[in-house]
Amino acid sequence: MELTGLHLLLTYQCNLECSHCFVWGSPRQSGTMTLRNVRHVLQQAEDLGTVEWIYFEGGEPFLYHAVLLKGVKEAASMGFRVGIVSNGYWATDLEDALEWLRPFAGSVEDLSISSDLYHGMESLSQRARNASVAAEQLGIPTGVISVAGPGMTNAASAVGQLPVGETEVMYRGRAADKLVAKAARHPWEQFAECPHEDLREPGRLHVDPFGNLHICQGISLGNLFHKPLKEICESYDPDSHPITGPLLEGGPAELVRRYGLPHEEEYADACHLCYEARRVLRRRFPEILMPDQMYGVTDGS
Ligand SMILES: C[S@@+](CC[C@H](N)C(=O)[O-])C[C@H]1O[C@@H](n2cnc3c(N)ncnc32)[C@H](O)[C@@H]1O
Ligand code: SF4
Repeated sequence: MELTGLHLLLTYQCNLECSHCFVWGSPRQSGTMTLRNVRHVLQQAEDLGTVEWIYFEGGEPFLYHAVLLKGVKEAASMGFRVGIVSNGYWATDLEDALEWLRPFAGSVEDLSISSDLYHGMESLSQRARNASVAAEQLGIPTGVISVAGPGMTNAASAVGQLPVGETEVMYRGRAADKLVAKAARHPWEQFAECPHEDLREPGRLHVDPFGNLHICQGISLGNLFHKPLKEICESYDPDSHPITGPLLEGGPAELVRRYGLPHEEEYADACHLCYEARRVLRRRFPEILMPDQMYGVTDGS
């Protein structure tokens, strides 16, 4: 596995609670990286030797502005290219947005702002516009990421990192609970491959605040706080892994067949079937299908 990007979920917390969110971001979520955690992850990325890009996302990374800023500075000074993905909630006015962003100028090479009808009342919100204009004025390369509504079947399908522009929604995480009712369904056997993640050679992985290394939200390859990233990557055998093995062999449908799982006749997309199958499998593979945060289990729910 040659990893060129490592995405830090700085926090599971978010000021919003979008209905499509695959990490279940919410004000009621818990789990935030400390600076010590961030440094540990950056050191692991450096030791691996192949990582070029470090992204800070979440949850909403700007909720922990001071930690975000210090993390960005340290990552940049280690020679990484740095990106941030944010919902832009802080860009209440152009003048304010400039102040929020000014300290990042010169260190951040990509600021992706999410704006669509999940994040607000307009597909391109005034806050997203303020954030984009401020970034441009400060010389921070920027773009808007937008996720299409549940009925929009003509949007592009994302593989790996979400690109700038509009992509289709994936029915995993909160989307599998809150959005599927609006989606067309297809027979479960049709979902014979994973269309969105390169499970054999993932170019980028996500690390959450607890150190879990996710190949897709809620599928952990190991814990970076307990085992070096280099070792996790070297020992990853996609075909014998209990979850990615079946997924590579025959997609989410194979997960269902391999483990004899109960299922409905139709699902919204491959992620929907995969996510529901994984929910059932969590008891069997608690070290892999975790943490609770990625499955919408908050304290008391
Ligand atoms: C999880 S958010 C975290 C960063 C920040 N809070 C934001 O909204 O940009 C990162 C990106 O994932 C996208 N996203 C979340 N759930 C998704 C889903 N089910 N399908 C496709 N994209 C999704 C969001 O729209 C956002 O662009
Ligand atoms: S998509 Fe982003 S803004 Fe929306 S709830 Fe998830 S983390 Fe928060």
